[in-house]
Amino acid sequence: MEKEKEPPATEQPKPIVEISGVNKFYGSNHVVKDLSLVIYEKEFLSILGPSGCGKTTLLRMIAGFERQSTGTIIVEGENVENKEPFERNINTVFQSYALFPHMSIYDNIAYGLRMKKVPKKEIKDRVNKALVMVRLEGFGQRYPSQLSGGQKQRVAIARAIINNPRVLLLDEPLGALDMKLRKQMQIELKNLQRKLGITFVYVTHDQEEALTMSDRIAVMNVGNLDQCGKPEDVYDRPATKFIADFIGETNLFETVVEEEKGGVAYLYCEAGDMMGKSEGFDPNEIVYVSVRPEKTKCSVKPVENFSLGGIVRESIYLGNIVKTIINLTNGQAIKINTSVDQPAPPVGSIRYVYWDIKDAVMIYTHANDIINQIESVGLNSFNAAIPELLPKEGENG
Ligand SMILES: Nc1ncnc2c1ncn2[C@@H]1O[C@H](COP(=O)(O)OP(=O)(O)O)[C@@H](O)[C@H]1O
Ligand SMILES: [Mg+2]
Repeated sequence: MEKEKEPPATEQPKPIVEISGVNKFYGSNHVVKDLSLVIYEKEFLSILGPSGCGKTTLLRMIAGFERQSTGTIIVEGENVENKEPFERNINTVFQSYALFPHMSIYDNIAYGLRMKKVPKKEIKDRVNKALVMVRLEGFGQRYPSQLSGGQKQRVAIARAIINNPRVLLLDEPLGALDMKLRKQMQIELKNLQRKLGITFVYVTHDQEEALTMSDRIAVMNVGNLDQCGKPEDVYDRPATKFIADFIGETNLFETVVEEEKGGVAYLYCEAGDMMGKSEGFDPNEIVYVSVRPEKTKCSVKPVENFSLGGIVRESIYLGNIVKTIINLTNGQAIKINTSVDQPAPPVGSIRYVYWDIKDAVMIYTHANDIINQIESVGLNSFNAAIPELLPKEGENG
């Protein structure tokens, strides 16, 4: 029997870099931890995390400047284990522009093509095209010292795209620029990525930068990939306490589950009672609750099932919003953002904090959080703090 014609398939994103189970050790320092991540064609993916979390190490392993201790990296369907950086269809832009100071801009960009013995005429065409791409037409005969920081960074980008790589890796490329130029370059880079139609893997420690530029954000936390998703996913549904805290502003509560009933979780913390979404928690389970300042509210009288009373400490006018700070009885400072046309509670008055259940993000306590806590204080001091949990002398296990 003849097959019916299939409907035209909606275009599925194709993987271009597939990282699976990658670990990296420097001596006993476990820098990248069992990390798996698929990066797709034509996407702008940011790797976001605080300084020292392993972003550069991950990028250098993708590029081939560093070998992973275990795990595999596949680029364009091929295991690149034994491939040198220049054999991978990948180029890297570093934060330090790494331009040759004694060469003109033209020669800096042409360098790689000359090494590859590309014909002169073709070099000229490609360099000029790259200069147009990064909006530096007419700058070819200048020297790096005659350019501003932003212009030098564009030369570095032109040099990296000249070989038509399938993937461009960028390691905090705007880190050395001032704020205004940074914002401008963010938009330019995003436009450039669309025009080139290639994958950008963009390392940054700046959450705002990642939110504005990316199709997806991979958030790293001391070597772990905590979450990878669209900007709105990591902002609205942070997978870990670390991310809730790291991305955007939030009010974070460490709570204990009292009970769950009728789709509602009844919880309490040091400062009082609250409600959240029911997600199959057990009584006495510890759950973090994250509520964004724009979703947090306060009232003169307590709202049923909430008892987070406090004193209004500050009311800050920020042009488009008013930020109110309320200190709860345990000292926790709650941030509430309201629009300027709403009345702000007077400083010194007592208010009760609450929210709509749908606006509370419930975060399970992850094993990772505990491991990271151990690592941040060092295993010995962590052990010293909980001697009762350690096996006694002479005890087995
Ligand atoms: N070549 C190296 N030798 C030893 N340790 C290193 C080396 N490179 C990085 N590290 C360590 O690995 C960890 C992660 O570093 P890195 O990947 O540079 O982080 P990030 O780019 O997120 O700031 C840090 O603790 C750093 O000190
Ligand atoms: Mg780095």
